[in-house]
Amino acid sequence: MKREQWGTRAGFILAAVGSAIGLGNIWRFPYMAYENGGGAFFIPYLFAMLTAGIPFMIMEFSLGHKLRGAAPRAFSKLGVRLEWLGWFQVFIASVIAVYYVAVIGWAISYLGFAFTQSWGSDTNAFFFSEYLKLGDNSPSNLGGLQLHIAIPMVIAWGITFAAIFTGVKGGIERANKIMMPLLFLMVLALIARVIFLDGALDGLNYLFQPDFSKILDAKVWSAAYGQIFFTLSVGFAIMIAYSSYLPEKSDINNNAFMTVLINCGFSMVAGILIFSVLGYMAQEQAKPLTEVVSAGVGLAFVTIPAAINLLPAPYILGPVFFLALVVAGLSSHISIIEAVTSAIIDKLKWSRKKAASVVCGVGFVVSMAFATNGGLLLLDLVDYFINNVALLASCLIELLVIGWLLKVSDIRSYVNSISEFTIGKWFEICIRFVSPIMLAIILGTNLTNTFN
Ligand code: PFF
Ligand code: NA
Repeated sequence: MKREQWGTRAGFILAAVGSAIGLGNIWRFPYMAYENGGGAFFIPYLFAMLTAGIPFMIMEFSLGHKLRGAAPRAFSKLGVRLEWLGWFQVFIASVIAVYYVAVIGWAISYLGFAFTQSWGSDTNAFFFSEYLKLGDNSPSNLGGLQLHIAIPMVIAWGITFAAIFTGVKGGIERANKIMMPLLFLMVLALIARVIFLDGALDGLNYLFQPDFSKILDAKVWSAAYGQIFFTLSVGFAIMIAYSSYLPEKSDINNNAFMTVLINCGFSMVAGILIFSVLGYMAQEQAKPLTEVVSAGVGLAFVTIPAAINLLPAPYILGPVFFLALVVAGLSSHISIIEAVTSAIIDKLKWSRKKAASVVCGVGFVVSMAFATNGGLLLLDLVDYFINNVALLASCLIELLVIGWLLKVSDIRSYVNSISEFTIGKWFEICIRFVSPIMLAIILGTNLTNTFN
């Protein structure tokens, strides 16, 4: 059977961007920049983008495009003994998929709450005690499924399933063609409003004020490199699967640059949005900004709801913010489920409909572990291990295999033969030396910290 294909080039780029832009851009990047030198962080970040992000993206696009398979098949075509690397990546993708969907579920709940700010004034107690019911150890609740968390997760699975089941062009591409422009519009509309609030510019000042002393700090560089791989969805089977649906004639270099630049540009924009809001909140509460900044789950479900309480027209800005979060999350979730589904289609020769049903069905059941009142604990644990160990190890192994076991110059001549602009020797240097050395250092540091 002929492999499915994207309908248009823009469709592919939007889907790749849809995968890359996710919760990580909105709740991880702004805080990371703030923590690691503010404006000065952009130097290591840009460096990581150019020496690791772009080469890695070109490499994965070329693997999918040339070898016409999801990660396991692509790696097995490079060498029969390499297939496991593809399955290792599919495994990482599966694990991320089941907890990421829980966060999308929470965001769907909060989208509902936002219309009336029904989270009340103590957003911290609301999230942890009332919504997640973390402290509730009554026997009837212990390990019990929380229906009010499970139901929005069903909605998220339903949308992902519909896109994957329908297919690459009619489902995934169509979904992203609706979602991505909507996401950009919503974020720009939010910024257009919040930037004029009192204190917003102070927030931006905090974000962008460069602390150049941090540039010499190794931690800042590893933060930048660590963020780049996750934010670009590379190293966990996604971009290989997506690029395996590219038509023969595809400008790999150009597509990779566009995907990376749009993702990183979006991160910058998200940083402006978040810090304008935080600056306003600090001003309203007469607190120093350092007391209101946060990241991750705390930022999205505690700090932002509290900020929304203070905003003008909260019943509009609140729902728009959470809808943006949902859309960013769903387009990433679709990509990660496709990475798993396409690997199974390749291997077992199942129909797309059957593979999509089984993957989403099993994924749904497993993800219900995160809808219990032990969910957050489990999520933190799994997230930590995946981000700080498994994903970095997978990226490092991929670089070593391509850079040292095989001939990376072959990839360069391949992409240069089909792309409009060509890439130079720097590509090989980044794949063989710069990226693996940085990754090895970060992974080593993380492992030492984990076991200490
Ligand atoms: N690039 C995504 C992000 O920054 O949020 C990473 C990602 C997470 C992709 C989860 C896909 C996914 F399901
Ligand atoms: Na996304």
